[in-house]
Amino acid sequence: MTKHARIISVSNQKGGVAKTTTSINLAASLAMADRRVLLLDLDPQANLTSGVGLKGQSAAGGTIYDALMTTGQPAQDFVLPTGVDHLFLVPADRHLTGAEIELVMLPDRDQRLRTFVNQLRGEYDYIFIDTPPSLGLLTLNALVAADTVLIPLNCEYFALEGIADLMSTLDRVRESLNPSLIVEGVLLTMYDDRTNLGQQVGASIREFFGDQVFRTVIPRNVRLGEAPSHGVPVILYDARSRGAEAYVALAREFLSRDLAAVGSH
Ligand SMILES: Nc1ncnc2c1ncn2[C@@H]1O[C@H](COP(=O)(O)OP(=O)(O)OP(=O)(O)O)[C@@H](O)[C@H]1O
Ligand SMILES: [Mg+2]
Repeated sequence: MTKHARIISVSNQKGGVAKTTTSINLAASLAMADRRVLLLDLDPQANLTSGVGLKGQSAAGGTIYDALMTTGQPAQDFVLPTGVDHLFLVPADRHLTGAEIELVMLPDRDQRLRTFVNQLRGEYDYIFIDTPPSLGLLTLNALVAADTVLIPLNCEYFALEGIADLMSTLDRVRESLNPSLIVEGVLLTMYDDRTNLGQQVGASIREFFGDQVFRTVIPRNVRLGEAPSHGVPVILYDARSRGAEAYVALAREFLSRDLAAVGSH
């Protein structure tokens, strides 16, 4: 049966809020639950690519940079298998740094990723796009290509700072190229329930975003920081860690929200 992937942009222009960690570990948890999942690395830092152990590798067609800059090559040529069953990657490398500037000169500069990724919808259940910490042309391409946006927020004092800029970017994208873009959910990351600050910030985020916030919260956990250096998702590194359990719980909640949405039609 042909699939019709949902395309999810994991975005927040603030750096270090766990966009990449969430992309890898939610995707891997869904793959473990027998969903076919594609990860797309749209960050020149290429942390996602190294996090699944494929640093420096490119597919037959090249990396995401080549996919954005060329036309005509089949999209599947840019996909690599990972060490996890059902989990695939379109890799990035440092070349992508130049794309932000080079894209400006190309036709359909903000729609090139959409053209590319739409060709892959039939092969996967979910496609996650890991975006860089900026609201530049790469992130714009992701938001134009996506059906939904998943927003990780770290539970620190400045968590909501800059969120207005992200929200107005989402509005701008809806008004122009992607009217049906919705928020998949807001995820509290690096949560430390031993501190008042963590609890207060979590509460104020829930007040601001209401039901859009996932009930699952990702705790601060060193295993989540260690796993990427071994090139594997945390469930393969330490399945019993709190970090692994949290991302498995998130995948479960993610899937149950999906089922609820299907049921309501
Ligand atoms: N829950 C957590 N507990 C402990 N460390 C974490 C957790 N989540 C992420 N980290 C670590 O925090 C750092 C930032 O996470 P990550 O790279 O996922 O953020 P990011 O939003 O993708 O960053 P960037 O904006 O630079 O792309 C990484 O070193 C990561 O391993
Ligand atoms: Mg990142």
